[in-house]
Amino acid sequence: MYVSLVERLNGIQDLPSIPNTLNKVLSELAKESSTPDTIETIIKEDPLLTAKLLQVANSPYYGMAGKISSIARAIVIMGFAEVRNLVVGVSLTTMVTGDLGFEEFKTKDLWLHSVAVATAANKLAQHIPGMDPEEVFTLGIMHDIGRFLQCLYFPNEMRELLKANNGIKNLYPAEEKAGIPHTEIGAYLAHRWKLSELFVEAIRYHHRPQGAGPYTAHASVLFLADQLCKKLQIGWHGEDVDNRLLIPKTLSLSQDIIKGVAIYMKEQKNEIERAWDEVLST
Ligand SMILES: [Fe+2]
Ligand SMILES: [Fe+2]
Repeated sequence: MYVSLVERLNGIQDLPSIPNTLNKVLSELAKESSTPDTIETIIKEDPLLTAKLLQVANSPYYGMAGKISSIARAIVIMGFAEVRNLVVGVSLTTMVTGDLGFEEFKTKDLWLHSVAVATAANKLAQHIPGMDPEEVFTLGIMHDIGRFLQCLYFPNEMRELLKANNGIKNLYPAEEKAGIPHTEIGAYLAHRWKLSELFVEAIRYHHRPQGAGPYTAHASVLFLADQLCKKLQIGWHGEDVDNRLLIPKTLSLSQDIIKGVAIYMKEQKNEIERAWDEVLST
Protein backbone atom coordinates (compact mmCIF):
# COMPACT_ATOMS: atom_id res chain seq x y z
CA MET A 1 0.00 0.00 0.00
CA TYR A 2 2.74 2.42 0.93
CA VAL A 3 5.12 1.37 -1.82
CA SER A 4 6.78 4.73 -2.28
CA LEU A 5 7.20 5.16 1.49
CA VAL A 6 8.92 1.78 1.72
CA GLU A 7 11.14 2.77 -1.21
CA ARG A 8 12.10 5.98 0.56
CA LEU A 9 12.85 4.10 3.78
CA ASN A 10 14.90 1.53 1.87
CA GLY A 11 17.01 4.39 0.59
CA ILE A 12 17.96 5.66 4.05
CA GLN A 13 21.51 4.58 4.82
CA ASP A 14 21.72 5.49 8.50
CA LEU A 15 18.45 4.07 9.82
CA PRO A 16 18.94 3.39 13.55
CA SER A 17 19.82 -0.17 14.43
CA ILE A 18 18.29 -1.90 17.43
CA PRO A 19 20.17 -0.93 20.63
CA ASN A 20 22.71 -3.66 21.28
CA THR A 21 21.69 -4.47 24.85
CA LEU A 22 18.01 -4.45 23.95
CA ASN A 23 18.68 -6.93 21.17
CA LYS A 24 20.60 -9.22 23.50
CA VAL A 25 17.98 -9.02 26.26
CA LEU A 26 15.10 -9.72 23.86
CA SER A 27 16.81 -12.75 22.34
CA GLU A 28 17.82 -14.03 25.78
CA LEU A 29 14.24 -13.69 26.98
CA ALA A 30 13.02 -15.66 24.01
CA LYS A 31 15.06 -18.63 25.24
CA GLU A 32 13.52 -21.05 27.69
CA SER A 33 16.81 -21.09 29.59
CA SER A 34 16.76 -17.37 30.44
CA THR A 35 16.97 -16.54 34.14
CA PRO A 36 17.41 -13.32 36.12
CA ASP A 37 21.14 -14.18 36.31
CA THR A 38 21.64 -14.41 32.56
CA ILE A 39 19.75 -11.15 32.05
CA GLU A 40 21.76 -9.46 34.78
CA THR A 41 25.02 -10.49 33.10
CA ILE A 42 23.91 -8.83 29.87
CA ILE A 43 22.81 -5.61 31.59
CA LYS A 44 26.02 -5.32 33.56
CA GLU A 45 28.05 -5.24 30.36
CA ASP A 46 26.42 -1.89 29.61
CA PRO A 47 27.48 0.61 32.33
CA LEU A 48 25.44 3.53 30.97
CA LEU A 49 22.31 1.41 30.88
CA THR A 50 23.02 0.13 34.40
CA ALA A 51 23.43 3.67 35.73
CA LYS A 52 20.22 4.90 34.12
CA LEU A 53 18.35 1.83 35.24
CA LEU A 54 19.34 2.34 38.87
CA GLN A 55 18.36 5.99 38.57
CA VAL A 56 14.79 5.09 37.57
CA ALA A 57 14.62 2.20 40.05
CA ASN A 58 15.45 4.61 42.88
CA SER A 59 12.84 7.17 41.87
CA PRO A 60 9.74 7.76 44.02
CA TYR A 61 7.60 5.90 41.44
CA TYR A 62 8.98 2.64 42.74
CA GLY A 63 9.00 3.83 46.34
CA MET A 64 12.49 2.55 47.18
CA ALA A 65 14.49 5.76 47.01
CA GLY A 66 18.19 5.11 47.52
CA LYS A 67 17.79 1.44 48.35
CA ILE A 68 18.68 -0.14 45.04
CA SER A 69 22.41 -0.17 44.47
CA SER A 70 22.80 -3.01 41.99
CA ILE A 71 20.92 -4.86 39.28
CA ALA A 72 20.82 -8.00 41.42
CA ARG A 73 19.23 -6.01 44.24
CA ALA A 74 16.75 -4.43 41.82
CA ILE A 75 15.67 -7.89 40.69
CA VAL A 76 15.21 -9.06 44.28
CA ILE A 77 13.27 -5.99 45.39
CA MET A 78 11.28 -5.09 42.29
CA GLY A 79 10.94 -8.48 40.69
CA PHE A 80 12.28 -9.76 37.41
CA ALA A 81 9.36 -8.59 35.29
CA GLU A 82 9.63 -4.98 36.42
CA VAL A 83 13.41 -4.86 35.89
CA ARG A 84 12.99 -6.38 32.47
CA ASN A 85 10.52 -3.60 31.58
CA LEU A 86 12.98 -1.01 32.80
CA VAL A 87 15.77 -2.52 30.70
CA VAL A 88 13.63 -2.39 27.60
CA GLY A 89 12.44 1.15 28.36
CA VAL A 90 15.83 2.59 29.23
CA SER A 91 17.72 0.94 26.38
CA LEU A 92 15.20 1.92 23.74
CA THR A 93 14.91 5.52 24.90
CA THR A 94 18.68 5.98 24.55
CA MET A 95 18.30 5.30 20.83
CA VAL A 96 17.18 8.86 20.07
CA THR A 97 18.14 11.51 22.62
CA GLY A 98 19.09 14.67 20.73
CA ASP A 99 16.87 17.60 19.83
CA LEU A 100 14.66 16.75 16.87
CA GLY A 101 14.30 20.42 15.94
CA PHE A 102 10.55 20.88 16.37
CA GLU A 103 9.12 23.59 18.55
CA GLU A 104 5.88 21.67 19.20
CA PHE A 105 7.56 18.98 21.28
CA LYS A 106 10.83 17.73 22.66
CA THR A 107 12.33 14.27 22.17
CA LYS A 108 11.75 13.66 25.86
CA ASP A 109 8.01 14.31 25.50
CA LEU A 110 7.67 11.72 22.75
CA TRP A 111 9.43 9.13 24.90
CA LEU A 112 7.39 10.06 27.94
CA HIS A 113 4.24 9.31 25.97
CA SER A 114 5.71 5.94 24.97
CA VAL A 115 6.64 5.05 28.55
CA ALA A 116 3.16 5.99 29.76
CA VAL A 117 1.44 3.93 27.05
CA ALA A 118 3.72 1.00 27.90
CA THR A 119 2.78 1.29 31.58
CA ALA A 120 -0.96 1.51 30.89
CA ALA A 121 -0.88 -1.27 28.28
CA ASN A 122 1.03 -3.50 30.70
CA LYS A 123 -1.62 -2.93 33.40
CA LEU A 124 -4.48 -3.66 30.97
CA ALA A 125 -2.75 -6.79 29.64
CA GLN A 126 -2.56 -8.23 33.14
CA HIS A 127 -6.33 -8.73 32.89
CA ILE A 128 -6.39 -10.31 29.45
CA PRO A 129 -6.02 -14.09 29.41
CA GLY A 130 -3.22 -15.34 27.20
CA MET A 131 -1.49 -12.00 26.92
CA ASP A 132 2.08 -11.49 28.15
CA PRO A 133 2.08 -8.17 30.03
CA GLU A 134 5.85 -7.77 29.70
CA GLU A 135 5.74 -8.26 25.96
CA VAL A 136 2.94 -5.70 25.84
CA PHE A 137 5.12 -3.25 27.80
CA THR A 138 7.81 -3.56 25.11
CA LEU A 139 5.17 -3.03 22.44
CA GLY A 140 4.01 0.10 24.24
CA ILE A 141 7.52 1.55 24.37
CA MET A 142 7.86 0.88 20.64
CA HIS A 143 4.38 1.76 19.37
CA ASP A 144 5.21 5.30 18.20
CA ILE A 145 8.81 4.60 17.17
CA GLY A 146 7.85 5.71 13.65
CA ARG A 147 7.38 9.26 14.96
CA PHE A 148 11.09 9.57 15.68
CA LEU A 149 11.92 8.41 12.19
CA GLN A 150 9.43 10.84 10.67
CA CYS A 151 11.15 13.69 12.50
CA LEU A 152 14.64 12.48 11.65
CA TYR A 153 14.17 11.61 7.99
CA PHE A 154 11.13 13.55 6.76
CA PRO A 155 11.48 16.79 8.75
CA ASN A 156 10.12 19.14 6.09
CA GLU A 157 6.96 17.11 5.56
CA MET A 158 6.52 16.82 9.33
CA ARG A 159 6.91 20.55 9.75
CA GLU A 160 4.24 21.18 7.14
CA LEU A 161 1.89 18.66 8.72
CA LEU A 162 2.34 20.17 12.16
CA LYS A 163 1.74 23.67 10.83
CA ALA A 164 -1.40 22.60 8.99
CA ASN A 165 -2.61 20.83 12.10
CA ASN A 166 -1.92 23.71 14.44
CA GLY A 167 0.66 21.58 16.13
CA ILE A 168 -1.56 19.08 17.83
CA LYS A 169 -4.80 18.20 16.06
CA ASN A 170 -5.37 14.79 14.50
CA LEU A 171 -1.92 14.38 13.13
CA TYR A 172 -2.37 10.73 12.22
CA PRO A 173 -5.00 11.06 9.44
CA ALA A 174 -2.93 13.91 7.99
CA GLU A 175 0.16 11.69 8.00
CA GLU A 176 -1.78 9.00 6.17
CA LYS A 177 -2.87 11.48 3.54
CA ALA A 178 0.68 12.68 3.13
CA GLY A 179 1.82 9.08 2.70
CA ILE A 180 4.13 9.00 5.71
CA PRO A 181 2.12 7.51 8.63
CA HIS A 182 4.23 6.79 11.71
CA THR A 183 2.45 3.43 12.00
CA GLU A 184 3.86 2.18 8.67
CA ILE A 185 7.29 3.63 9.40
CA GLY A 186 7.32 1.94 12.82
CA ALA A 187 6.23 -1.38 11.31
CA TYR A 188 9.01 -1.06 8.74
CA LEU A 189 11.61 -0.52 11.48
CA ALA A 190 10.29 -3.42 13.58
CA HIS A 191 10.59 -5.63 10.50
CA ARG A 192 14.12 -4.37 9.80
CA TRP A 193 15.03 -5.16 13.40
CA LYS A 194 13.72 -8.68 12.83
CA LEU A 195 11.14 -8.41 15.59
CA SER A 196 8.22 -10.83 15.50
CA GLU A 197 5.20 -10.41 13.27
CA LEU A 198 3.19 -9.53 16.36
CA PHE A 199 5.37 -6.44 16.85
CA VAL A 200 5.26 -5.44 13.21
CA GLU A 201 1.48 -5.77 12.91
CA ALA A 202 0.50 -4.37 16.33
CA ILE A 203 2.64 -1.27 15.62
CA ARG A 204 1.19 -0.98 12.10
CA TYR A 205 -2.40 -1.11 13.37
CA HIS A 206 -2.28 0.64 16.72
CA HIS A 207 -4.49 3.47 15.43
CA ARG A 208 -6.85 1.10 13.56
CA PRO A 209 -6.77 -2.11 15.58
CA GLN A 210 -9.58 -3.80 13.64
CA GLY A 211 -7.19 -4.30 10.71
CA ALA A 212 -4.59 -6.28 12.66
CA GLY A 213 -5.94 -9.78 11.94
CA PRO A 214 -4.52 -12.30 14.44
CA TYR A 215 -2.90 -9.44 16.38
CA THR A 216 -6.09 -7.44 16.86
CA ALA A 217 -6.06 -7.90 20.64
CA HIS A 218 -2.52 -6.55 20.94
CA ALA A 219 -3.21 -3.62 18.62
CA SER A 220 -6.40 -2.94 20.62
CA VAL A 221 -4.58 -2.81 23.95
CA LEU A 222 -2.17 -0.26 22.49
CA PHE A 223 -5.07 1.70 21.04
CA LEU A 224 -6.83 1.85 24.40
CA ALA A 225 -3.68 2.64 26.41
CA ASP A 226 -2.83 5.36 23.90
CA GLN A 227 -6.21 7.01 24.43
CA LEU A 228 -5.92 6.84 28.22
CA CYS A 229 -2.50 8.53 28.11
CA LYS A 230 -3.66 11.18 25.68
CA LYS A 231 -6.52 12.08 27.99
CA LEU A 232 -4.12 12.39 30.90
CA GLN A 233 -1.77 14.49 28.76
CA ILE A 234 1.37 12.57 29.61
CA GLY A 235 4.10 13.54 27.15
CA TRP A 236 3.38 14.59 23.57
CA HIS A 237 1.24 12.59 21.16
CA GLY A 238 0.17 14.89 18.34
CA GLU A 239 -3.55 14.22 18.50
CA ASP A 240 -6.58 16.17 19.51
CA VAL A 241 -8.10 14.69 22.63
CA ASP A 242 -11.57 13.26 22.21
CA ASN A 243 -13.79 13.08 25.25
CA ARG A 244 -15.13 9.68 24.36
CA LEU A 245 -13.05 6.66 25.11
CA LEU A 246 -13.29 4.14 22.27
CA ILE A 247 -13.08 0.68 23.77
CA PRO A 248 -12.36 -2.01 21.19
CA LYS A 249 -15.04 -4.71 21.40
CA THR A 250 -12.50 -7.45 20.86
CA LEU A 251 -11.05 -6.78 24.30
CA SER A 252 -12.94 -8.54 27.02
CA LEU A 253 -12.15 -5.90 29.61
CA SER A 254 -14.80 -4.67 32.01
CA GLN A 255 -15.46 -0.99 32.55
CA ASP A 256 -14.20 -1.41 36.12
CA ILE A 257 -10.81 -2.69 35.01
CA ILE A 258 -10.37 0.09 32.45
CA LYS A 259 -11.44 2.64 35.05
CA GLY A 260 -8.99 1.13 37.52
CA VAL A 261 -6.10 1.48 35.08
CA ALA A 262 -7.16 5.05 34.25
CA ILE A 263 -7.19 5.93 37.96
CA TYR A 264 -3.81 4.26 38.49
CA MET A 265 -2.30 6.25 35.61
CA LYS A 266 -3.81 9.48 36.91
CA GLU A 267 -2.42 8.87 40.37
CA GLN A 268 1.00 7.87 39.07
CA LYS A 269 1.27 10.52 36.36
CA ASN A 270 3.61 12.82 38.31
CA GLU A 271 5.75 9.96 39.55
CA ILE A 272 6.10 8.43 36.10
CA GLU A 273 7.04 11.82 34.67
CA ARG A 274 9.56 12.43 37.42
CA ALA A 275 11.05 8.94 37.24
CA TRP A 276 11.75 9.25 33.53
CA ASP A 277 12.39 12.95 33.26
CA GLU A 278 15.93 12.77 34.57
CA VAL A 279 16.85 9.68 32.61
CA LEU A 280 15.48 11.15 29.40
CA SER A 281 17.28 14.43 30.02
CA THR A 282 20.75 12.95 30.43
FE1 LIG B 1 0.61 6.36 17.33
FE1 LIG C 1 0.89 6.91 20.84
